[in-house]
Amino acid sequence: MSFDVSVVRAAYPALADGYAYLDGAAGTQVPEAVIEAIAGAYRRGIGNVGGAFPASQRGDGIVAECRAAVADLVGGCPAGVILGPNMTTLTYRLASALAKDWRAGDDVVLSRLDHDANVRPWVQAAARAGVTVRWAEVDVGTGELGVEQYDVLIGPRTRLVAVTAASNVLGTRPDVAAITAKAHAAGAVTYVDGVHASAHGPTDMVALGADFYATSAYKWSGPHVGAVVADPARLAALLPDKLASSSDEVPHRFETGTSPFADFAGVVAAVDHLAGLDPTATGTRRERLLASLATAEAYELELFAVLLTGLAAMPHVTLYGSAARRTATAYFTVAGRTPRAVATHLAARRVNVWDGHNYAWEVTAALGIRDAGSAVRAGLVHYNDRSDVDRLMAGVAELG
Ligand SMILES: Cc1ncc(COP(=O)(O)O)c(C=O)c1O
Repeated sequence: MSFDVSVVRAAYPALADGYAYLDGAAGTQVPEAVIEAIAGAYRRGIGNVGGAFPASQRGDGIVAECRAAVADLVGGCPAGVILGPNMTTLTYRLASALAKDWRAGDDVVLSRLDHDANVRPWVQAAARAGVTVRWAEVDVGTGELGVEQYDVLIGPRTRLVAVTAASNVLGTRPDVAAITAKAHAAGAVTYVDGVHASAHGPTDMVALGADFYATSAYKWSGPHVGAVVADPARLAALLPDKLASSSDEVPHRFETGTSPFADFAGVVAAVDHLAGLDPTATGTRRERLLASLATAEAYELELFAVLLTGLAAMPHVTLYGSAARRTATAYFTVAGRTPRAVATHLAARRVNVWDGHNYAWEVTAALGIRDAGSAVRAGLVHYNDRSDVDRLMAGVAELG
């Protein structure tokens, strides 16, 4: 295992601006290789896909490479990688396709830990189909999503269980494999939101028991592209709304309109970048991804321990969430200051953090903080270093 954060940081031009980018959970910066891959696709000449000329065929090649790269990242099948503008849009599309055979009296099981993008599309599809929504609750003291409650929540009419692989505010990584096993035992389909999780460690969607696994490249050093990955045979059984003239092939039938092909080249470069985070990793790209992301996760968590210890020692700081398995994501309030005031104070010290509910709509309400501006989020990714953490802590300490 080897990780040199200064080498990693040098790959990201934006990090040279002197800011501590602790806003990675809302979107990461991109390495030069990603910028170059996107620019290079345009420079070489790019056409819409499916044509008879080389620029079009280059577009076809980029799409195929992009599916293969995302499949390597999550442990899925390239032919089951649906690409789209972002996870939210794709989840709405999948929700309306899946709900076509839901019947009144069926139910779906959602969690209050989830980002609203893995909640509201299902709530609204359920309402249209006369389907009951059942809620898995979060332990507000710890931020854990208890697995046992699913024994009661999942029943013979459960059609879908949607759950996050990691909370984008509390960082909680629930025991997804245990939850999906219960769903499968009842014949329900599982939809796992990996948008926050996939940046922070190795992903194996098969081991997670995810029938559908959603992710977004802009959270892991890529451009603004989303993906949902599933078994192609499962996708072939779904009939999304689509144009009569567009391809009915899987996964194209889920991809409406013309795609951002040059950005897809950036997705490939981002996956290659992640695979190279640990320069001692060897083997296939999938193997290097698993090793590199394990190394990056260990690095993030070590740095996170410094951040958590520092914030926990400040009497004016309240930290939310203490799950046993979590990403390096801190969510906190400061006594007597609104989250926006804290973020503004930190921005003046060149520290980027997010304030607010961050679309973690249900859990911020459950914590009783949503109406008061929720909290401040400082999230670490593999390019953050000790100086980022020290500057954050110094800035927060000034507010005591
Ligand atoms: C956990 C999680 N799920 C879903 C989303 C929505 O992703 P997208 O912006 O790709 O729609 C986000 C974005 O912040 C997220 O953090």
